[in-house]
Amino acid sequence: MIEDKSDSSVYSREEDDAGKITRRRFLSLIFTGATAMGLAAFFAPLARYAYPVLKGQVFERQKIATTSQISAEGLRFDYIETPSMVIRLSDGNYGAYSLVCTHLGCIVKWEVKNQDFLCPCHAGKFDENGINISGPPPKPLTKYKLSIEGNDIYVEGLA
Ligand code: FES
Repeated sequence: MIEDKSDSSVYSREEDDAGKITRRRFLSLIFTGATAMGLAAFFAPLARYAYPVLKGQVFERQKIATTSQISAEGLRFDYIETPSMVIRLSDGNYGAYSLVCTHLGCIVKWEVKNQDFLCPCHAGKFDENGINISGPPPKPLTKYKLSIEGNDIYVEGLA
């Protein structure tokens, strides 16, 4: 602050330089920009984890098995690098799911005896349709859309 004794008014140097970028303003912009980029770099992976882009992703059609390969134990396969399984449902149809638990991401196991998926981490359970039925998982397993041509079973994305 500079006091002008001639007319007793008080003004700041920044007001004098209206329209120009002062050193202070420049440094403030740099600091603000750097802070914004740092926060974005920190929060982007968290946002991606919380809201995966699977729904908007284009899925490839993938042959996963023939019908004769699917026993009571089901059949493991990887789809988009995700551990997955196809099982024979009690109504005779097939169901295919990601085995990634919707709680904290452990890999669930198909329990033939109980006809459900059990998560070994916190005992979360999913029924044969992938629906969360007990424990901490907040939502069903990711279900895949299947198509069957002859004896071949294909995954064609999310159901
Ligand atoms: S990670 Fe599966 S129940 Fe917690």
